[in-house]
Amino acid sequence: MSTNIADLRKSYEKAELSEDASHADPLQQFDRWLKEAIAAEVPEPNAMTLATVGSDLRPSTRIVLIKGYDARGIVWYTNYQSRKGRELAGNPFAALQFHWVELERVVRIEGRVEFTSAEESDAYFHSRPLDSRIGAWASPQSEVIEGRSVLVANAAKYGAQFLLKPPRPPHWGGYRLVPDNWQFWQGRKSRLHDRLRYRLEDGDWVRERLAP
Ligand SMILES: Cc1cc2nc3c(=O)[nH]c(=O)nc-3n(C[C@H](O)[C@H](O)[C@H](O)COP(=O)(O)O)c2cc1C
Repeated sequence: MSTNIADLRKSYEKAELSEDASHADPLQQFDRWLKEAIAAEVPEPNAMTLATVGSDLRPSTRIVLIKGYDARGIVWYTNYQSRKGRELAGNPFAALQFHWVELERVVRIEGRVEFTSAEESDAYFHSRPLDSRIGAWASPQSEVIEGRSVLVANAAKYGAQFLLKPPRPPHWGGYRLVPDNWQFWQGRKSRLHDRLRYRLEDGDWVRERLAP
C-alpha cells in the first residue's frame, strides 16, 4: 500500500453559504438543500447518520432514511427494540447528520425525539413493499442471532402466517426528532468553510456564523 492516508485532502470550491442567501427558517433552508441534493443525483440523498446516547453515556451511530419532514420535525422508521430504540427510551436527545459529498455540504440537526403517532406509523408501514413488511417481523433488530438461516426461517414463518397482509409489528414504527439546533456547512477554499447555526431562542430561530 503506497497511499499515505494523511496526504489525502481535497479543496472545497463548489459553492458558498451566506447569511444573505440562506433562509431565515432552517426548515426552509434544509428543504432547499435536500431538494438540491436529490436534483444533483447524489447517492442516497435521504440517508442520514443518527446518533444516540445510551444510559451508560456511550454514544452510538447508524444510518437511517429520512421519511418525512415538516414544521414538527424529521421522521424515520425503525424497530423500537433495536439498540437505537433502547437508547432513545433512556435518553430522548439525538442528533442527525447528512453528508452530501458531491455538493460539499453537511447538515447537522439536534433535538428531542418522540414517537410518531400509531396512525402515521401504520400509514408508512403499509406503503412499504411486502418483503420489507415481512422483514420487519423477521428481524429482531440488533439482537445476536445464530446465523442468517434464522432470518430466512423467520421470513418464511411470518410470510406464511400473514400471507399478503402483515400488520405493523407493535415493536416497529416511527420516530420524530424535534429540532432545537440546526447547522449548515458548506465547504470553502483554504479550509475557510461556511457554517451557519440556527438555535431556538424564545421560540425564534437565531442564525449565527460559526468558525470552521
Ligand atoms: C443507507 C442505509 C439506510 C438505512 N435505513 C435504515 C432505516 O431507515 N431504519 C433502520 O432501522 N435501519 C436502517 N438502516 C440500518 C441501520 O444503519 C442499522 O444497521 C440498524 O438500524 C441497526 O442499528 P442499531 O443496532 O444501532 O439500532 C440503514 C442502513 C443503511 C446503510
